[in-house]
Amino acid sequence: MVQKVKSLIEKGCLILEKKQVTKVSKLLHGGDYNPEQWINYPEVLEQDIEFLRIANTNAFSIGMFSWATLEPTEGVYNFEWLDEVFDRIYKMGGHILLATPSGARPAWMSQKYPEVLRTDAERRKMLHGGRHNHCFSSPIYREKIQNINRKLAERYGDHPALIMWHVSNEYGGECHCDLCQENFREFLKVKYDNDLDKLNHAWWSTFWSHTITDWSQIESPSPIGENAVHGMNLDWRRFVTHQTIDFYKTEVEPLREITPEIPLTTNFMADNPDLIPFQGLDYSQFAKEVDVVTWDAYPTWHNDRESTADVAMKVAFIDDLYRSLKQQPFLLLESTPSAVNWIDYNKTKRPGMHYLSAMQMLAHGSDSNMYFQIRKSRGSSEKFHGAIIDHDMDMNNRVFQEVKKVGDQMAKMPELAGSPKPAEVAVLYDWESNWAIDDAQSFGEDSRLYPQTVQEHYRAFWAKDIPVDVITKEQNWDSYKLLVVPMLYLMDAQTIERLQKFVEKGGTLVSTYITGVVDEHDLVHLGGWPKPLQETFGLKPLETDTLYPKDRNAVTYAGKSYEMKDYGTVLDVESAKPVAFYEEDYYQNQPAVTSHEWGEGKAYYIGARLERAFHDDFYGRLIEDLDLKAIVSAEAPASVSIQGRRMDETTNLVFVMNFSEESQVVYLNEEVVDIDGNQTMSGELVLDPYEVKIVKNKIAQ
Ligand code: GLA
Ligand code: ZN
Repeated sequence: MVQKVKSLIEKGCLILEKKQVTKVSKLLHGGDYNPEQWINYPEVLEQDIEFLRIANTNAFSIGMFSWATLEPTEGVYNFEWLDEVFDRIYKMGGHILLATPSGARPAWMSQKYPEVLRTDAERRKMLHGGRHNHCFSSPIYREKIQNINRKLAERYGDHPALIMWHVSNEYGGECHCDLCQENFREFLKVKYDNDLDKLNHAWWSTFWSHTITDWSQIESPSPIGENAVHGMNLDWRRFVTHQTIDFYKTEVEPLREITPEIPLTTNFMADNPDLIPFQGLDYSQFAKEVDVVTWDAYPTWHNDRESTADVAMKVAFIDDLYRSLKQQPFLLLESTPSAVNWIDYNKTKRPGMHYLSAMQMLAHGSDSNMYFQIRKSRGSSEKFHGAIIDHDMDMNNRVFQEVKKVGDQMAKMPELAGSPKPAEVAVLYDWESNWAIDDAQSFGEDSRLYPQTVQEHYRAFWAKDIPVDVITKEQNWDSYKLLVVPMLYLMDAQTIERLQKFVEKGGTLVSTYITGVVDEHDLVHLGGWPKPLQETFGLKPLETDTLYPKDRNAVTYAGKSYEMKDYGTVLDVESAKPVAFYEEDYYQNQPAVTSHEWGEGKAYYIGARLERAFHDDFYGRLIEDLDLKAIVSAEAPASVSIQGRRMDETTNLVFVMNFSEESQVVYLNEEVVDIDGNQTMSGELVLDPYEVKIVKNKIAQ
């Protein structure tokens, strides 16, 4: 065993052990349940349990919006209804993820303590209402949430149904009240060693006479005030992450103290409908504080802009990012069984799509499929949002049946829980770079597209079924064979040095245009490009040309022409070897893509934004050169995704998924075993539209 592990490490493969992420070693199926809305309908609550049993569900998030029911007046608690819910669920064999209720508060609190409410960037005090609108600094709000969390932990901490704390709900947003301004200043004092000269230098504040001469002059960015000091904007975003985490840490104090053995999570998000990582918080920092990363996935399947495969790729990207944040399985905490209620056109999932998308989650490392919501609320804004139990209360309902199909299938593969998903390729994603480039006031207003660009590079691997970790800059990347770092606009000295070392020691690195432009303060690197990058890539970018949306150029690579748009870099190539050339404009015939040997490794630079076909061909060659392997040796169309997880020393569980509206044929070069029929299969495998086949294969040694 030790020997085998060693040899895999030598091959550059990350070894990951099985990791149990909740108190039970199980796949979870269930979702957000809001019994507080149905206290006056006891027969409904009784009936729910029967629905949930039939749907083969076993896990329920409860209480995220129950504060007004739990504490109807200040200091007076009402837990009986929740006791009953716990017991009913326990009796059916279910597990509970108990939420802390800070996502929305009772009216009495906002009325008595207005400081708990948020102030927006224009310094307007918010009224009571909606949700997610608390001040993350307010000492009163912190005290109130600690009180209720303590009560919850004392009352339910030992309940056998409790398997995880679901802390708050989708933390997000920012507050600009006086308390938060003061905390922002304190954060900056710590960051800049109490030295205003350091801060002024980092913020380049002599520009437009913005020099700060007293800490009290600092105010958070505002559309009606300071908003052009980029270093400050970046620090504000960092502060928002810091302060949100600080609030979270306050929230969880009583939970950690009273129930140290119960894991904690808070549900992360994506930005919809683009389906890019959530931009409001730097999850690479937040992930350090939670025991398990969980997220809420709401892809807009069947939309009128993208193919089903495009949407599937973006989901896969976020899955791979959120899994890689802790290098362990994650949980899908919310998704809709049919339609959402918050986009322009709330289309239902077509037959088969729910099952397919649920299997995709498992394939990418989720140990759960959970939904928002168990039962549709009868009134208010989410009454038409998809749910397991609809207003018709009918189990023959199409959506219910498809949920049940997911539950039945998950119940058949318990051994998947905790299984890792190793990868030899890493793609790097960075929240800070995205914030900084979006603030840059340069390049193309609508064509910066950092997250989308990272996704496009990722796509080349996804389409060929090569497993990928999407990692962040503080993570260890030594063991990957290939590291892809598109558009990493912001690079501190340490990241630059680590990238250089990676190549020196034999890694292959790919980077692109608009990389390594500014440092961690958003100050431009002087001298053209940082020296270590010049050495590693054997070149120096001279100019970045931004094109208008309708402009086009092209590059020639390996005898073929590929369309270029948005960006082209004019390069001063020193020791690098040009491998592609611009076809037109004032940089015609000049190098567009280069390769360079550095130390034991190789560094490629892609100077232009090129069409998909280029990525397919360019990365296709690298996949061959570096002998990167899919989990199953097969020939499959790009819209068929083959992904899976390592079950034990010798076996993978593999999902062959057809993300298209047509039948597709896959050719299997190796033998696999169908997990339902236990039949062996090889050669041609036909998949119906949206069909998933779940198979096992032997791990290639
Ligand atoms: C979010 C929230 C849920 C619900 C869903 C609707 O993810 O966490 O409470 O509002 O959106 O899609
Ligand atoms: Zn505030």
